[in-house]
Amino acid sequence: MTSDLILKFADAEILLDDAAYRKLNDHNNSNELAESLINDLVNNGDSIFLLTEEMVDEFLEEKESSIEPIRQSKLLPQEFDFQIIQDASKKSYTNGEIKDFSSYFANRYHKLWQMLTRKHELQNVQPIKNAQRSEDVVEVVGMVNDIRYTKKNHKFMEIEDETGTISLLVHNDNHQLYEDAERIVKDQVMGVIGSRKGNILMASQIINPGVPRIDEKKMDFSAVFLSDTHIGSSTFLEKAFQRFIKWMNGDYGDESQREIANNVKYLVIAGDIVDGIGVYPGQDKELNIKDIYQQYEEAARLLGDLTDVKIIIAPGNHDACRLAEPQPALPEEYAKDLYQMKNVEFVSNPSLVSMDGIKTLIYHGRSFDDLAMTVKGLSHQNSDIIMKELLEKRHLAPIYGERTPLASEIEDHLVIEDVPDVFHTGHVHINSYKKYKGIHLINSGTFQSQTEFQKIYNIVPTCAQVPVLNQGSMKLLKFN
Ligand SMILES: [Fe+2]
Repeated sequence: MTSDLILKFADAEILLDDAAYRKLNDHNNSNELAESLINDLVNNGDSIFLLTEEMVDEFLEEKESSIEPIRQSKLLPQEFDFQIIQDASKKSYTNGEIKDFSSYFANRYHKLWQMLTRKHELQNVQPIKNAQRSEDVVEVVGMVNDIRYTKKNHKFMEIEDETGTISLLVHNDNHQLYEDAERIVKDQVMGVIGSRKGNILMASQIINPGVPRIDEKKMDFSAVFLSDTHIGSSTFLEKAFQRFIKWMNGDYGDESQREIANNVKYLVIAGDIVDGIGVYPGQDKELNIKDIYQQYEEAARLLGDLTDVKIIIAPGNHDACRLAEPQPALPEEYAKDLYQMKNVEFVSNPSLVSMDGIKTLIYHGRSFDDLAMTVKGLSHQNSDIIMKELLEKRHLAPIYGERTPLASEIEDHLVIEDVPDVFHTGHVHINSYKKYKGIHLINSGTFQSQTEFQKIYNIVPTCAQVPVLNQGSMKLLKFN
């Protein structure tokens, strides 16, 4: 192989310097590249010639730019007004000192305090330290420290701010309030109105930062939402996925489905694009592709046919990424072929992007595990209800230190600062959709059939069902 390459050039009376040789040899398709390069040089009339690395680079660049117009002219050119509004990839860092831990919570508290104290019900918020002495009805904003029940089944909590802590009691006679309080989780930040009895605050109102009802924006295009394709797994539904790709390219489905495909501008993938390696014990027995690099190569091969849509990829807990959230965008070293695609954007988990003005919050959904475990009535089957709850709490992973590893950053990137038009998640492998206060809540299911793990826990995934926001209205297209 090595000498082949040198011989080829020598035959054409071209010498290679070391760097040029390495460049050619490292190329995916070095033989083909060598031949076209020799052809080019010979046709230019050059002989006895020393080829340098810069000349190889120049040739590669020219080659790429000459391919581009041909590729695009076959397709309808799309103009994208795409922006990444929030991405933690570069901003997220921690040195692991305990100082960051407290500044992380202080930052979370501060961001949510600002939202809460803007609400008309909370115009007289006082520091908890003052509330401990007050005789009147008090308003406080606190982070939940502890949640318990009294013997008589009243809800008993402790909340804190920078100035102190106070105990909170929600009486079970107060049915509506008690029901609301059942959805409170540790580490969330909330407003409380109550009156002090001894050293306890008797809550009369609990206030979430919440989201306002938003006006729906006009959409003259369609966006497709995917997650949890788990490419590389033996349970990845490749045939169904290929049907999906065909549909995207207008080659599959009935007339109305093809018409929808024709409108598609954006494809968002909310994590777990590949199955990964070493995610759980014994995973390799369930893998068709056991190499992480090859899993991403396969993903690029499958997505490579989509050339006229913008593809936005965020990582999930199966991807080759730091697990602690916020997860930075997929590193280039693992996904070289995907990075070579000109129409792919890589974003962090979570992130906020704008697709022609439609603000889309992308979050894989790891925290759903914690919420489903902690709050009565929340389950993986109805992630739309969890998403609604997260929006009301304005935080994507309010519970710290359970199953969702969170990085103790200087800033809390999981606070939902902007109200999105679309909130897109995955992780649970079960589709759901709901419109809540004008916001589209979408969970995009999976392209992986039931796994051994899911069999044990009786989790039935909804496979190969793809949500499409078609000019503002939700369509679920099935490819199984
Ligand atoms: Fe997944």
